[in-house]
Amino acid sequence: MKNPIFCALDTVDEARAASLARGLKGSVGGVKIGMEFFNAHGPKGFRTVAEAGLPIFLDLKLHDIPNTVAGGIRAVLPLKPVIVNVHAAGGLAMMRAAADAASEAGEARPLIVAVTMLTSLDQSDLDATGVSGTPADHVLRLAHLAAKAGLDGVVCSAHEIERLRAELGAGFKLIVPGIRPADADIADQKRIMTPPQALALGADVLVIGRPITSAENPREAADAIARSLAA
Ligand code: C5P
Repeated sequence: MKNPIFCALDTVDEARAASLARGLKGSVGGVKIGMEFFNAHGPKGFRTVAEAGLPIFLDLKLHDIPNTVAGGIRAVLPLKPVIVNVHAAGGLAMMRAAADAASEAGEARPLIVAVTMLTSLDQSDLDATGVSGTPADHVLRLAHLAAKAGLDGVVCSAHEIERLRAELGAGFKLIVPGIRPADADIADQKRIMTPPQALALGADVLVIGRPITSAENPREAADAIARSLAA
């Protein structure tokens, strides 16, 4: 089995991100770089992290008019990220434009996945923004829209895996943050699940940050999580 762990490198410290990536080579399936790091260090910072040789998920959560999102995707294709994301709330045409732009990379096409509903939002936020239904309805509606647009999958909470897998089928990638090993500090995450639980439910990628990056020995922490998956 390919290692499903992607370690979130949530830092603006370029040297630290690069050293974490080097140290995790062979112990994780890839790393995730978000807007904090990318806005600070851009393509040059990306390339510095990429020197470790690990696949990179570029977590930019793009959300704009279709032409601009397509341009945003096109602009990062030379970096060869393996996953890039957009907001499903940007709509069908925007997601299609993102998928089309990604296809221009041919063989090096990154997976394009959609963020459905941010886990920082709840029912009152949906109501306040005029969105009907429950958070679960909304996530499902947006995931179906992402599939219709030809996207490769969605980012979702572990608690949504079962329903999304059942409705969207086996090939639809489910990228899951909010994962905590049983003995880990849960920090600010609320609706968490352990790595083996999330994998058993059907997650494709487990995004894990602080349980690895805050460990005294990040590589050992990642190896322990990987062993828990194989058990
Ligand atoms: O350190 P931790 O494991 O909580 O990091 C999880 C990563 O996944 C962070 O980069 C965070 O921004 C991201 N994320 C999340 N929950 C979401 C979407 C993304 O925790 N719903």
